[in-house]
Amino acid sequence: MNNDLEVKMADTAPSPFTPGYGKKPAIFGGHGAEFTELRAVFDTLDFGENHSVLVSGLRGAGKTSFITTLQDDARDAGWLVISDDASAGLMGRVMDSTIPALINAMTRESRARLTSFGIWEFNAEIEYVNRHRTVKPQLRSDLVALSSALGASGGILITIDEVSSGKVRLRELSRFALQISHALEDGAQIMVVFAGVKVSLDALLAEEHTTFLRRSREVEFERLSAGETRRVFIETAAIGGRRIDEDALTRLVSLSQGYPYLVQLAGDYAWRNNPNAPTITLADATIAHDKAIKAVESRVISRVYGDLSDVDQKFLNAMAEDDDRTKVADIVKRMDVSDAYVQVYKKRLIDSGYVHAAGHGYVQFSLPYLGAYIRRQLAAEARDGGGTGGWDAYPAPELPS
Ligand SMILES: Nc1ncnc2c1ncn2[C@@H]1O[C@H](COP(=O)(O)OP(=O)(O)OP(=O)(O)O)[C@@H](O)[C@H]1O
Ligand SMILES: [Mg+2]
Repeated sequence: MNNDLEVKMADTAPSPFTPGYGKKPAIFGGHGAEFTELRAVFDTLDFGENHSVLVSGLRGAGKTSFITTLQDDARDAGWLVISDDASAGLMGRVMDSTIPALINAMTRESRARLTSFGIWEFNAEIEYVNRHRTVKPQLRSDLVALSSALGASGGILITIDEVSSGKVRLRELSRFALQISHALEDGAQIMVVFAGVKVSLDALLAEEHTTFLRRSREVEFERLSAGETRRVFIETAAIGGRRIDEDALTRLVSLSQGYPYLVQLAGDYAWRNNPNAPTITLADATIAHDKAIKAVESRVISRVYGDLSDVDQKFLNAMAEDDDRTKVADIVKRMDVSDAYVQVYKKRLIDSGYVHAAGHGYVQFSLPYLGAYIRRQLAAEARDGGGTGGWDAYPAPELPS
């Protein structure tokens, strides 16, 4: 009995799908041209316009996965990788822990070359001990030294994820960017990648010291094309040794709408429904449908909606009154504000990728299921009295003093 069970478990192929934030997909859909171009830079150090890259797109669209994939490629090509997110203390983290760790992972010859810069103290085995007290620590000089020690064998890839437009964060990022731009002027071989939603990246470009970023390569993440979506399903399943029936594939592609997170969720549920069968069938895809949509609502759509400002949310609520596309003039009426005001928010939401223009004077949700999610939220709020779960009728009694 026990033995049977063990055999069965060993036979169950693990799902090759990767639902979850920041989980690098087994098969990366889309953006082939960008990868080819950036990988060529890793091999040749011929940067062209690729010293800086801006990666923008909605939550769950694949920004972090793109960055992680680039990092792996860069390491394979012998580059040093500095990766962090744009949270407070960025400069300190990079200079006090990331760079020392990178130094100690370098070859002995490269480390020996670093000793001549006089920035760091090394022990007899040429391992990093500390910074020299006499030299003012500057990221710029660290990067230049690291780059020269690498010589022609590689460059430095710096990736900063989760750029968001809080004032403190932007000020810190702009100081960080200034150091990078100086290092570039000094000839360091650096590629820097910033990722975030479009409005945050625009805010970063508007900061002082970040003008060099205006010449960046821009990589925008929208949903995958239908063809790429099919390919991701087919090739990911093939990695796990299974095929997908044609009708099941059609169902999975249309349910995911090319939205990367949903592709992974749907594929994963379909896979797990009957993991030992040689093919994924329509029955598996049908079960996956409901589960995937429920999961994407709680893991993605609610976060997307929660990230938005009150006015952005009101705009989308006004749109959700229509099942398909919405006339901008109707939004003006429903929000009871001026046309100019609505235009400002419309542009913001289009820039961030939540909404797109759908014919003259119309807008439509870009993210599949966002409209349905909002409709359901609003209905639930109306049902239980303004979203307080009906508690308005039962205020807490005052405590005796
Ligand atoms: N190009 C792609 N092809 C197939 N699957 C992808 C692709 N990009 C991302 N995914 C999958 O989508 C999910 C979300 O990816 P990721 O975390 O990179 O998104 P993100 O844009 O960084 O989201 P956030 O803005 O919330 O940080 C993961 O499950 C990942 O495996
Ligand atoms: Mg991310």
